[in-house]
Amino acid sequence: MEAKTTGRFTGHLGFVLAAAGSAVGLGNLWRFPYLAAKDGGGLFLALYLFLLVTFGFTMLAAELSIGRKTRQSPVKAYATAHSGWGFLGVLTFLVPAIIMTYYPIIGGWILKYMVVYLFGAGQAAAQDSYFSNFIKAPIAPLFFTLVFLGLTSLIVYRGINKGIEKSAKFIMPVLLLVVIGVALYSLGLSYTDDKGITRTGMQGLQVYLIPNFEGLTFSRFLQILLDAMMQLFFSMSIAMGIMITYGAYARGKVNMAHSICHIGLFDTGVSVLAGLMIIPAIFVYEGMEGMASGPGLMFVSLPKVFAAMGSMGVVIALLFFLTATFAALTSSVSILETLTASCMEVFGASRKKVTLVLTAVYVLAASIVCMGYNLFYMDLKLPNGSTARLLDLMDYISTNVLMPLVALLSAVLVGWILKPQWVIDEMQRNGENFRLKRQFSFMIRYICPLIMVLLFLKIAGIV
Ligand code: PFF
Repeated sequence: MEAKTTGRFTGHLGFVLAAAGSAVGLGNLWRFPYLAAKDGGGLFLALYLFLLVTFGFTMLAAELSIGRKTRQSPVKAYATAHSGWGFLGVLTFLVPAIIMTYYPIIGGWILKYMVVYLFGAGQAAAQDSYFSNFIKAPIAPLFFTLVFLGLTSLIVYRGINKGIEKSAKFIMPVLLLVVIGVALYSLGLSYTDDKGITRTGMQGLQVYLIPNFEGLTFSRFLQILLDAMMQLFFSMSIAMGIMITYGAYARGKVNMAHSICHIGLFDTGVSVLAGLMIIPAIFVYEGMEGMASGPGLMFVSLPKVFAAMGSMGVVIALLFFLTATFAALTSSVSILETLTASCMEVFGASRKKVTLVLTAVYVLAASIVCMGYNLFYMDLKLPNGSTARLLDLMDYISTNVLMPLVALLSAVLVGWILKPQWVIDEMQRNGENFRLKRQFSFMIRYICPLIMVLLFLKIAGIV
């Protein structure tokens, strides 16, 4: 993320790439594939794409416009847009504040796998209980979490984000190539299990792409819709203040409508490819039962694919985890940077002081969440029926409770209080023609609040 002192992003490309750098992260590589697998592939994918073009673009337009029009960080932007709405800024601040308690843990897992492949222990990582043994260990996961957090803090502390963004421009394409390569390889896989059943990558592709409506109930449909919606928010960094911040840094002459399309397509492209890389592979080796493995999916299935690739697998695995670490780091930096910028503004303190305090807070918080797999182990039943550890609980509170609330309130603010024209004017500030203005107004006034209310009923277990 560009620091405030350096002014604005240089133009359309700089702006889009910076926003995409924050957006493309663990959400795409880790969260999207495991949710898509859990929710049966095709239907999740279809709903996700539908929500992207309706909901995603609408919210992105609203948030970027609020940012660019008020030129303020989220905590103050809402209050500036309309007096009395400052509380929404505080609520929005809480989302990245909670995400930051577990994001470094998953970043740490990726870092660990990178080290494993670096030291040639990739075969061991392909064993069945390797991942669960690792996260339950007392020291190793904590160590990698703190290293990842330390790197994030160092970058924010020294304010060297610009350098990070520059290198992201080289690393992102490499990541993309690796993901495409592994995805192609996954499609060619074939495996016969102990029962003599042979499954192929192409069958896995069908599971991923073709919606299966068999035995679908309304409640399960809503659950998948909910998962897709929360994933959309998480992945595109919306309903968490990030896009308001980016909007505030964008130049006046940037064509917002074009930027929104590019950010959305880039982010979704990476997610869809990550699913292509992981889902057919997990289907081949573990069948439909393997699909429900949750947050560990990427760490369980990918090492198996890499092992099947032979000696080339080690190089590709190393390249993958290296680039994934980088993608996770750029996102993690953007989260901490947002929190830092807000605290600097609210408390009037220096960057260094704020970063140090926040780091201390997150060393403690992330350590506790990380120990949710050993010392603080629990089987917590969530309203959506799944059992959660501390990490899942934090993810649930931030993405399933706070984000929809923030999204609902900002839709009400923009749709009914400021009125859609407020955003449309900002989108057309250079005389552009925002062609989807009718759809935007309709979405933000009626459809967004309606879907949100429906999802709340689902979250509360009423439907
Ligand atoms: N969108 C990022 C991802 O997909 O990994 C995650 C993220 C970035 C979350 C920024 C929160 C945030 F404030």
